[in-house]
Amino acid sequence: MTTDTAAQAAYVVAALLFILSLAGLSQHKTSRSGVVWGIAGMVVALAATVGLASRSITATGLVLIAVATAAGAGIGLWRARVVEMTGMPELIAIMHSLVGLAAAFVGWNGYLDVDAELSGSLLAIHHAEVFIGVFIGAVTFTGSVVAYLKLSARINSRPLTLPGKHVLNIGALVAFVGLTAAFVVRPGMGLLIAVTVIALALGAHLVASIGGGDMPVVVSMLNSYSGWAAAASGFLLANNLLIVTGALVGSSGAYLSYIMCKAMNRSFISVIAGGFGTPAAAADEDEQGEHREINAEETAELLGNATSVIITPGYGMAVAQAQYPVAELARKLRERGVEVRFGIHPVAGRLPGHMNVLLAEANVPYDIVLEMDEINDDFAATSVVLVIGANDTVNPAATDNPSSPIAGMPVLHVWEAANVIVFKRSMAAGYAGVQNPLFFRENTQMLFGDAKQRVEDILRGLDALDAPVREMAGTSR
Ligand code: TAP
Repeated sequence: MTTDTAAQAAYVVAALLFILSLAGLSQHKTSRSGVVWGIAGMVVALAATVGLASRSITATGLVLIAVATAAGAGIGLWRARVVEMTGMPELIAIMHSLVGLAAAFVGWNGYLDVDAELSGSLLAIHHAEVFIGVFIGAVTFTGSVVAYLKLSARINSRPLTLPGKHVLNIGALVAFVGLTAAFVVRPGMGLLIAVTVIALALGAHLVASIGGGDMPVVVSMLNSYSGWAAAASGFLLANNLLIVTGALVGSSGAYLSYIMCKAMNRSFISVIAGGFGTPAAAADEDEQGEHREINAEETAELLGNATSVIITPGYGMAVAQAQYPVAELARKLRERGVEVRFGIHPVAGRLPGHMNVLLAEANVPYDIVLEMDEINDDFAATSVVLVIGANDTVNPAATDNPSSPIAGMPVLHVWEAANVIVFKRSMAAGYAGVQNPLFFRENTQMLFGDAKQRVEDILRGLDALDAPVREMAGTSR
């Protein structure tokens, strides 16, 4: 068997491993094996690619590949080990930016180093691939950098609203099409520089125009773009595996974006156009009235007398690492005969499934953890709702206020319960930067402070409630 045939066979094996990986990652229970399949696929792919390349490159080239692989693997391992769960989306965003940058470089290399044997229509196709690869790569690069800056709160997550922003976006696309035609007919560095600059600006503008509450969709959309950027590189490098892998990432990312758009009631097309999440500052500036406060002892008493409790966790539970005392609280209340369930919003936290992972980590039984659609009708018949570090996902403005930036996003109807206790440290807005009228409702009380500390205070409060009962049982014995 020749090296080429062996490498192509290895590519097929790697592609199958990547498909198994995606299948594994699609379910909570099989996600670990999905990761293992993915690692195995990448090892096979790298070995085959280096084996194939070794025929045509020098020993120095091979050493450089080894150094680059070791450096990349080292940085990847280090970042993956130290990243906090809450920092995952920005890590993913910055990784996507590297894929985009690599694709743009591969495109530029394709222009600077053209295969001398190419001519006629094959050369024209090559030039089109160069142009498209650079465009998608550059859009992905700056889009992901802006997403990283927003997700890590290094820049404001509010949407940028340049005058005529849609015209700017469409203008950039039209210019891209025109420049591609010109480049295919008469390739030149000036045209390639022009498309690179336009794509860099378009990527930054598309993501900057999107409001904080819609960032989950943007991250998965950039994931999809990074896949298409890799596929474009695959065409340029005549690497079948890169084409297949890029298409897998591109289509699975697009499908995830579609699912998230459905969960957030957003139009998929407007996401791609970077045109949603327009601000409505007026909604924020409305006078909201007074809020009421409650302390941990009073909350413990309320919970002690409740018949049913729903806990809706959000990003603040992750920040406070409150999942363990929250699980303990659920256990204690259930022991007292209170019906306890969790209501999970699809984009609560900062990554899909964030709350499910935290609650599973704290051994909360799966059967009391319900999705938004499964629990939304039950709030009206619930004694107490504990909103633990959630904000945007329980904001009634999404259903009541058509001019709110999060209007139309499905939310947990916590306000329908008899009592709502909101755990947070201040009256600050959530990730989308939108004020929450829930905090000012008559049946809502604010429990200020770090969520973990406050839940621990409530646990002590519940113990104190039980103490007289225990003492009486002791004296009667
Ligand atoms: P958010 O709207 O982000 O609000 C979290 C709340 O937690 C804040 O209001 C904050 O208020 C409070 N908090 C922070 N640290 C706390 C602590 N130590 N103790 C107690 N409270 C604390 O939360 P959410 O309801 O989960 O909504 C998620 C938001 O993130 C949505 O807008 C969503 O679109 C966006 N997003 C989601 C994802 C995915 S895929 N899930 C990815 C990116 C963005 P204080 O500062 O006053 O304490």
